[in-house]
Amino acid sequence: MEITVTVNGRTRTRDVEPRLLLVHLLRDELRLTGTHWGCDTSNCGACAVWLDGVPVKSCTVLAVMADGHEIRTVEGLEGPHGLDQIQISFVQCHGLQCGFCTPGMLMTARWLLDRVPDPTDEQIREAISGQTCRCTGYENIVRAIRHAAAAERDAAERGAR
Ligand code: FES
Ligand code: FES
Repeated sequence: MEITVTVNGRTRTRDVEPRLLLVHLLRDELRLTGTHWGCDTSNCGACAVWLDGVPVKSCTVLAVMADGHEIRTVEGLEGPHGLDQIQISFVQCHGLQCGFCTPGMLMTARWLLDRVPDPTDEQIREAISGQTCRCTGYENIVRAIRHAAAAERDAAERGAR
């Protein structure tokens, strides 16, 4: 089947098998390997991307279901002025170790902060509850998301002055 998806603002058309998963379209067909494939059970969340602005596990979505829709992957986080604040905060707060879970964490955290600029720890933990980190532990990840939220609030206040 021929499908057309918009990924990180770029329109891509591919002829795909109906059974192809979105995670494999992204990684194997479009070579966007920032999205990770970490399990066969829809548990790990390393494959999280945005579909029409909402985080989804891309291993649970068929590529054909994304036909005509917008996808944002971790490669689309960086903007014209450099890394997104959430990426900067993960680095500054050591929110990663091996980095395998990080793409999913970043996409979910970005989604949360776009909606809740000053989240509680509970809201952060709930937002990332679909992601599994097997090595860092969650303390620094939560700290990184809090750090990004504070930095963005500071920047917004400075801009408002
Ligand atoms: S690859 Fe593990 S939830 Fe998608
Ligand atoms: S940083 Fe290694 S799994 Fe999360």
